[in-house]
Amino acid sequence: MQFYHLILLVSISVCPILVKSEIKPVLINKFELAHAGFSTLLRTWTLNSTSWALVISCFNPIPGTTDYVYNVANIEWQLTTKITPTVLTNQIIWPNGIVPADTLLPYSIIVPSGFLVPGKTNGNLYFISQTGSPTPLVPNDKTNWFYHDADFKDMDGDGHFDIVAGRANIPIIGGPTTQLIWLKNPGNYSVTGPWKLNYLLTTGGPDIQVQFAHIGSLTVLFANSYFTRKLQMFWSDSDPLWSNASQLHVRHIDYEPLSYAYIQLTNDLNGDQKPDLLVTVNDEFNGSLIAYELPTSGDIRTGDFIKHVLATGFKPFSQGKGKGAPGQAFAVQFYSGPARKKPVIILSGDDDGCVYSLEALHDDDPSNWEYSKKIIHQSKKSTIGQISIEDVDSDGHPEMFVPAYNEGIVYIYRLMDN
Ligand SMILES: *[C@@H]1O[C@H](CO)[C@@H](O)[C@H](O)[C@H]1NC(C)=O
Ligand SMILES: *[C@@H]1O[C@H](CO)[C@@H](O)[C@H](O)[C@H]1NC(C)=O
Ligand SMILES: *[C@@H]1O[C@H](CO)[C@@H](O)[C@H](O)[C@H]1NC(C)=O
Ligand SMILES: *[C@@H]1O[C@H](CO)[C@@H](O)[C@H](O)[C@H]1NC(C)=O
Repeated sequence: MQFYHLILLVSISVCPILVKSEIKPVLINKFELAHAGFSTLLRTWTLNSTSWALVISCFNPIPGTTDYVYNVANIEWQLTTKITPTVLTNQIIWPNGIVPADTLLPYSIIVPSGFLVPGKTNGNLYFISQTGSPTPLVPNDKTNWFYHDADFKDMDGDGHFDIVAGRANIPIIGGPTTQLIWLKNPGNYSVTGPWKLNYLLTTGGPDIQVQFAHIGSLTVLFANSYFTRKLQMFWSDSDPLWSNASQLHVRHIDYEPLSYAYIQLTNDLNGDQKPDLLVTVNDEFNGSLIAYELPTSGDIRTGDFIKHVLATGFKPFSQGKGKGAPGQAFAVQFYSGPARKKPVIILSGDDDGCVYSLEALHDDDPSNWEYSKKIIHQSKKSTIGQISIEDVDSDGHPEMFVPAYNEGIVYIYRLMDN
């Protein structure tokens, strides 16, 4: 009897039932910053080692005024002390999310700017090096384009990385024009002025995000249009050369015309070790979070993307023109235990004032796309901007930075998984 009992004990400890703990946010700090909009964590170089900088774009709706980009250097040293951000620039109108531009020059950034707000529509892509002031990269043609993202590729094979971006122009009367453009790198190591503008698509292009990826032997560009409601994939017949617009192809990833707001190609969402596209649809009545499996067999150019709606029904806390939910989503891999195989999805609610965590219900089943959804931050009547997440202090628990726009506060959480 005793012997049997012992065997039972041993078998229990050898074969424990895998139970996944829930992600718990712990508020560790906050600081004031008026109109905090987009936050981004960037790699920097301080005292002979890499460090994290938290960069935050801030903007107000007062027509014609310039806005602010702030910097918190070495954020990992200041997680529990009083934080005072410094001004990186006060010369840009409506700065959007920051794009790291280390590909061009180590520790430099691009600030895409402009938005559909009166007096704030004249945007550009501004290059800022560690020492310099903002240099506009797009020649100013006196037309009001706004920019949200950029990616890098040597388009014409001259050995220098060029810039690719989508952009939108929305006249007071008439529909939006959306374009896919590229800017030719003149091959100077210092950026002194605008680069030559080239067109890949002069209408019906993307206007928010662009992301290059290598799928098999082909380079593709994932992109989305919020204003003309498109989710697209581009490729070139002369890949790796992309400079001849007549050799460029575009396909729809989803034919449904929705206000696609953010896209992210993840390494894997469902545990099948294959990349998946994570997409949010920002809407006034029924926003959603969607995943697409890349075509599983055959050709990425012709195969079907398999759609999985992960969560729906997001809407702003008060209805209003231009308001919507949710915002950007991030797949975050926790390495805490064998029970958690799929990444956790952290989602900004945008105009609903919340931040959500979505955890897979069945980590062992790649064919199951069910998630539990939990609110991990709620701001009273404040839009939530672009959150950023990294384990900046390398303690094994990621920190999450949450800009609450109307409150003028940036919240700092540590995401615990135990
Ligand atoms: C950085 O590295 C250089 C060269 O190894 C060394 O001379 C210098 O003292 C270091 N500076 C700091 C602040 O550690
Ligand atoms: C390259 O940089 C030099 C020095 O700043 C400048 O005079 C020149 O116009 C630049 N060339 C291009 C093509 O931007
Ligand atoms: C661009 O591609 C088209 C179609 O393949 C071709 O006819 C044209 O010659 C190409 N242009 C250049 C400059 O290579
Ligand atoms: C909300 O959007 C999702 C995803 O597009 C869709 O599946 C669902 O039917 C929509 N619900 C309503 C009530 O329109």
